Formats: sequence, C-alpha cells, structure tokens
Amino acid sequence: MFNTLGLHSSAPALVRYTHPDQLPDLSRLAGDYENAFVLGGGSNVVLAPSLSSLVVTVQSRGIRLVSETRTEWIVEAQAGESWHDFVAYCLDKGWPGLENLALIPGTVGAAPVQNIGAYGVELKERLHSVVAWNLQERRLVEMEGDACRFSYRDSFFKHGPAGRWLIVAVRFRLPKRWEAVLDYADLHRHPVLSAAGAAITPRQVFDAVCELRRRKLPDPAVLGNAGSFFKNPIVSAASYRVLYDAHAQVVAYPQADGNYKLAAGWLIDQAGWKGRRLGPVGMHDQQALVLVNYGGATVTDVMRLADAVRADVVARFGAQLEQEPIFVS
Ligand code: EPU
Repeated sequence: MFNTLGLHSSAPALVRYTHPDQLPDLSRLAGDYENAFVLGGGSNVVLAPSLSSLVVTVQSRGIRLVSETRTEWIVEAQAGESWHDFVAYCLDKGWPGLENLALIPGTVGAAPVQNIGAYGVELKERLHSVVAWNLQERRLVEMEGDACRFSYRDSFFKHGPAGRWLIVAVRFRLPKRWEAVLDYADLHRHPVLSAAGAAITPRQVFDAVCELRRRKLPDPAVLGNAGSFFKNPIVSAASYRVLYDAHAQVVAYPQADGNYKLAAGWLIDQAGWKGRRLGPVGMHDQQALVLVNYGGATVTDVMRLADAVRADVVARFGAQLEQEPIFVS
C-alpha cells in the first residue's frame, strides 16, 4: 500500500495530513522520530522494507482560483489533490495549460519535487509558486520558480535533508492566450491533432496525451511501477558523436546548452532488456524505461534488476543511467 511499485514496507508510525491547521502538531510529532518522510501518491518512490521515519501521508484537498488578470489565471491546489484530477478540473473550468501533463500518477504536492514533465511540457513552465512548511523551523514559506531550482526531473525539494519540507499547496500560472505544445513527435504526428490545424483545442491535446500514455505506460493499479525508472542521460556533444558513429539509430534530443539528451528507453531496449524479467521484476514490454513488479518483489529484486540494466547499458553504450524515483531507506 501507499507505493505504486507495490513494495512491502513498514514504518514506526503513519499520520494523515489533511489541513494546514495540523502543521505545528506535525512538527512536534516529527520531533519524536528519527526523521519524517512525506509521502504523496507514492508513485515516484522505492521504499526499503523497514523505514525508521514517521511517514506523513498528504491527503489535503481543495482547488481555488487565487486571482485573474487580463492575461492569466493563478490557480492553487492543495498538495493532496490527485494530479490528473486537478488537470482535468482546470480544463473543465476553462483554465487550460496543463493538458500535456495529463494522466501522470501522483499528487499535486509531489509534482514540483521531481518537476514532472511529459510531452514537451515541464511543471516549472506553468508554476507560480510552491507553498511549503518547514517541519524543523516550523514556518510556512512561498517559493517562486527560481528558489525551487528546477531542472530536468529535479528540484530543490529532491535534495538536502529528507523530511524537512512538507509541500502544502502549489500555485500555477495559466496564460489566457493558450497555445498547443505539439513539439513532441508523438503529438505532432497524432492524426486528430495534425488534422485539427489552427482549430485545435486543449481537450483534444488532453485526450491525445491520455491515449498515448495508456498505450505505452502500464497502469500502476494493474501492474506495479513507478513510471520511468531512469532519467534520460545527458551527455556532451563529443560523447554523443562517438555514440552516433557506432549506433546511427540512437535516439537523442539536442539541448539548448549544446549537450544531448539520450532516450534511455532506446538504450535499455537495444541492450535487450525490453520485456525481460529478472525474478519478480522486469522492464516493461511496451516501454523499456519502466521497471515493473509482477508481484511480491522486494527492494533487493528491484536493485538487482536496476544494477543489471545499468551495467549492460554502460558496457554497450558508455552511458550512465541515473535512477529517477527517490530511494527511501
Ligand atoms: N524507445 C525505444 N524503446 C523503448 C522505449 C522508448 O526505442 O522501449 C524510444 C522511443 O521510440 C522514442 C524514445 O525512445 O524514440 C523516447 O521514448 P518515449 O517517447 O516513450 O519517451 P521517454 O523519453 O522514454 C519521457 C519521460 C516520460 C514521459 C515521456 C513523454 C523521462 C525519464 N521519461 O520518456 O516520463 O511520459 O517522455 O514525454 O524523462 C516519468 O518521468 O515517469 C515518465 C513516464
């Protein structure tokens, strides 16, 4: 329970956070334990079998329009809202802009931690601010984008001492002048979207993204997984050139700074791991970047497979894969 990879894990205590009124008490309670660990939807974590921390599950709800100007809406969601339901709610209200991020599992509060991204949009591009409680210092802060130090699947919140921050709410800046983001190849060539031309609607993009994700990514309710298990590695232009000379089909995306982002799914697939199992875990047969739990796996099984995949990819392509979900010990 509480983690989509489906690993069994126990903790000395678990407490539900539902309202900001609880924050001072939570800080007091956290002081009684070795540490505190804040859990959202549990869709981006690898949990050790026995945790020493107090676990705080975030279940606060509420969405509101904070303000509106001629050019934008500022919308706030409490951290425990389901990310996908929030995206769908905004669309229903006529506040588009998040549709490329539809169907990402997890909660609103977890979204800034790894700066979720999909189909050409990252959370940081739509973020207004993060309202967060410092559990140790017992104070509420509002952090704007720069302070959150976002980068590819990374932020300020993913580093530093664990259990320091509880994200309370996230605010988004949604421009009224909506423009479809179709840079991602699968969207660009999607039949409905390419036929729509200038008349394209946010709902069409939302539907297309849902369709693509359902096709490729396993539903955690059916098959345990934590989304992409590795980041797409970023390499220098020189390293990319060496790789390209040996493997002209390599899938890579040039970055603004001159580096290249390699498609880890392609590397893992080519290394022969797509659809391959090792004990109760395996790499998914539709998307080799997703590690799946066929049932009863432990963190040892997960690490054994991850190490084997990493070793094969580095031996074959010289590229180092970095784990994407957070390991909680
Ligand atoms: N590919 C293969 N074999 C595979 C998987 C992928 O050859 O088994 C190739 C694809 O053909 C494509 C390329 O690799 O040319 C990229 O694959 P895909 O479009 O599926 O995207 P990705 O780079 O593997 C990233 C994100 C996903 C996100 C998608 C869509 C990371 C680590 N992953 O995957 O995010 O949904 O793009 O934008 O950046 C997540 O973070 O948990 C996640 C699912």
